[in-house]
Amino acid sequence: MKYPIYKTSFRGNEQKYVNQCFKNNWISSSGPFIKKFENKFSKIYSSKFALSTSNGTTALELALMSLNLKPNDKVIVPNLTFAATINSIINVNLEPVLCDVGKDDYNIDTDTLSNKVDKKTKAILIVHLYGKPCKMEKILNFAKKNKLYTIEDCAEAIGSKTNNKLVGTYGDCSTFSFFGNKTLTTGEGGMIIFKNKKKYNLAKKLRDHGMSFKKKYWHEIVGKNYRMTDLQAAVGLAQLEKFKYIMRKKIEISKLYKTHLKSLKNKIEFVNDNENELNTFWLFNIIIKNRKKNYLIQSLKKKDIEARPFFYCLSSMPPYKKYAIKEYKNSKFYEKNGLCLPSYIDLNSKDIKFICNTITELLN
Ligand SMILES: Cc1ncc(COP(=O)(O)O)c(C=O)c1O
Repeated sequence: MKYPIYKTSFRGNEQKYVNQCFKNNWISSSGPFIKKFENKFSKIYSSKFALSTSNGTTALELALMSLNLKPNDKVIVPNLTFAATINSIINVNLEPVLCDVGKDDYNIDTDTLSNKVDKKTKAILIVHLYGKPCKMEKILNFAKKNKLYTIEDCAEAIGSKTNNKLVGTYGDCSTFSFFGNKTLTTGEGGMIIFKNKKKYNLAKKLRDHGMSFKKKYWHEIVGKNYRMTDLQAAVGLAQLEKFKYIMRKKIEISKLYKTHLKSLKNKIEFVNDNENELNTFWLFNIIIKNRKKNYLIQSLKKKDIEARPFFYCLSSMPPYKKYAIKEYKNSKFYEKNGLCLPSYIDLNSKDIKFICNTITELLN
């Protein structure tokens, strides 16, 4: 495929740093790059407590475990997200409550939850889907009113902002993924940032088999091995050094798509751009109004362009059906009509023009 949805670009210090790991014989999880990567991440996110993990899913599990909830306590989660978000809740013995997304964008809308919060509901796990920031003010008010912890799943939204603040800096803890197709990658990898030192320390201990920080091989709690390796952190550090450049490229790409697809305004829609919001578009996406989504996917494929439908609603899939509490009209709308387009930073303006012209020809 000439234009896949995602392709990784390694043009910085990635190889140099990985070679240093081999040279110094630090390839496992206690080498110097781990701390350097966590520190640089902390700086960007103005957080004192950043914890690297083996992937974005283990980051979510540790974030949830750090809240010290009771088995079967409930966690609100959007019905439209990648399955890792809900799997992490179930895998730590909590119960998900599926919430519909909004009509005007594809992020969680707490208005649709009327009377669904009960005594067992303890947290809300939100997702900034495809890079689009959630309406944080509204979510934080809802969480405060209902005494809920807030976790932000920023796997798809590194660098996105709302009200001039990075998403991930609002919640009690926030998680990130550095999977190969993500805006910033370490191959596999994740990060959590915490507001609270106690929660950070608990997650840190859990990440390393529950081992005491002071007495090696003395285990204080039953833990996991969710550590990142120094090799991954070396790649991550090199990627973080290009943070501003990568964000600039992502924003450029979304602007080019919007310009070149303008003439299709009766046939497609873009997710809204609210004031004071910066969407870094992990995947640039369009909403197709005229039921031509499958035709478009197949036709683009013949032209060597990958287009990917939105995630399926969780409530539609067998493992999660039992958590459905209502009709999910808005999530179903986006499942049916949403389409993601190639979004990697090496796309140049000529590539995007070609992709947009092809879409325009096919839809006209
Ligand atoms: C919204 C969301 N949450 C969590 C994850 C899990 O991250 P990982 O694949 O690194 O485990 C992903 C992506 O893969 C994701 O898109």
